[in-house]
Amino acid sequence: MFLITAANGNQGKLLMPKLAKAGVPVRALVRSEQSGDKLRALGVEVLVGDMSEAGVLDRAMEGVTSVYHIGPVLHPREREIGFAAIDAARNAGVRHFVFSSVLHAIITDLVQHEIKRDVEEYLLASDLEFTILQPANYMLPLKLQPVFRDGVFRLSWSLDRLQSMVDLDDVTDVVFDVLVNPDRHYGATYELVGRGRYDAHQLGGIISDVMGKPVPVEEISGDEYLKAFIGDKDPANFTHEARVLRAISARYSAHDFIGNPNVLTWLLGREPTSFAQFVERNYREFLASAPALLTERA
Ligand SMILES: NC(=O)c1ccc[n+]([C@@H]2O[C@H](COP(=O)([O-])OP(=O)(O)OC[C@H]3O[C@@H](n4cnc5c(N)ncnc54)[C@H](OP(=O)(O)O)[C@@H]3O)[C@@H](O)[C@H]2O)c1
Repeated sequence: MFLITAANGNQGKLLMPKLAKAGVPVRALVRSEQSGDKLRALGVEVLVGDMSEAGVLDRAMEGVTSVYHIGPVLHPREREIGFAAIDAARNAGVRHFVFSSVLHAIITDLVQHEIKRDVEEYLLASDLEFTILQPANYMLPLKLQPVFRDGVFRLSWSLDRLQSMVDLDDVTDVVFDVLVNPDRHYGATYELVGRGRYDAHQLGGIISDVMGKPVPVEEISGDEYLKAFIGDKDPANFTHEARVLRAISARYSAHDFIGNPNVLTWLLGREPTSFAQFVERNYREFLASAPALLTERA
């Protein structure tokens, strides 16, 4: 039995259908009944619970041979949750702990990287078989939807800085292979980076080409990004999230954030998806799902 945590998120939405289709026994841990229902419809076992609460991870690990742990994004207790997941895996006799980390987890001035660095270190001292996956910045459909809708590409760091990115369809192909063929991947740490390195102007240019119209790029602050994330909620209750997002803005504005696609290319046995291919795929899906909206705005 495989356990996937944060199983209906950006990675989970792509990974769970791949596992379900292959017919492998899998348990999904999510926080809401709504996500639980969606995953049950795929035919997978579901545990609904908050992984930051005592006992939930212990229950989730029962009878599990391999776990893929994705730490909840922007969670103030992400580090403790990572440690607890490793402890629970050890206590339950799990053989293989696969950890969703981040590219360049050694960067201490990125809050969420330092957390993952600490979880990686804890995992290395756990005596569990491990595989650590370090994805670059995700190419996120959710970040493209507002661009398709509003025609502006917004980024919360310097528009002139370069970044490497990765398609989560590629990442979850790797996760699938790591879980299903564990012997090949024990003890490995893999950087998962797509092709190319882009500044915001180049990303905007690619989106413009795909949409067939100019798409301006605009820099926003980490706090503006937070506001979009939390909506009308009181920012005083989101101090950790604000720290993470301000650190991202500062670091990515001061330095490029780049990696190399070789490892991902070797693991996939093909070229990773480019940003242009990713935008084309998502724009096709957007047009198929929202033709009325586009006609209205034309
Ligand atoms: N964004 C990037 O560019 C990037 C790059 C590299 C690494 N990362 C890292 O990737 C991780 C996030 O991966 P992701 O984007 O695939 O995940 P995600 O979309 O943030 O995960 C959301 C899922 O996690 C579940 N969840 C959230 N909090 C939970 C809790 N306390 N207990 C149980 N379930 C919980 C949600 O359940 P419900 O659906 O029920 O709400 C949902 O299914 C983070 O650690 C982030 O730092 C991100």
